[in-house]
Amino acid sequence: MSALTELYKEIALCQLCEIARFRTKVVPGEGAENANILFIGEAPGWHEDQQGRPFVGPAGKFLDELLASIGLKREQVYIANVIKCRPTNNRDPLPVEIQNCRKWLDRQIELISPKVIVTLGRYSMAMFFPGKSISKIHGTAQKRDNVIYYAMYHPAAALHQQNLRQEIEVDMLKIPSLLTQAENIIEAAPEPQQLKMFEV
Ligand code: URA
Repeated sequence: MSALTELYKEIALCQLCEIARFRTKVVPGEGAENANILFIGEAPGWHEDQQGRPFVGPAGKFLDELLASIGLKREQVYIANVIKCRPTNNRDPLPVEIQNCRKWLDRQIELISPKVIVTLGRYSMAMFFPGKSISKIHGTAQKRDNVIYYAMYHPAAALHQQNLRQEIEVDMLKIPSLLTQAENIIEAAPEPQQLKMFEV
């Protein structure tokens, strides 16, 4: 059994947050265990909670289309969320839930060891680009400790705001060049105020 599968078992036992009591299924994440690209969304919705799989509802359908636009299938990447249980009534994740779940995401990142981490939406972005605004930094990347972090709008945003659809599509198309140029991207300085965004 792989270390990630072992981790899923641990995640399934987690009862740190109240929402764990109301979940149908926990949604740890899925995909290639050695994926180059890790996508991190926000939280499971109704469909994900029913199936125990990330991004299987309408936003997931759009994510699949976006992946296809760069010649990828979901089995070739890894897809996870900031939190692993569905928040009641699809509300936003609470800070305490994000904090409780952080250790699972950190373990996933350690085990998958992706070259590129793509944050989908505000909550995921806030973990890796603290203090930044998604409308300003979407479509830009930053390299830290040899990992490239790339911020995108959440695919669900396109379902609610048609004008964002094209921006998301354009941002997705920049991902292959992030991988091919990975070696040439300069590491960001450690102090947040000196971080320099890499414009793709
Ligand atoms: N939205 C997310 O952020 N994650 C999912 O898994 C589904 C919808």
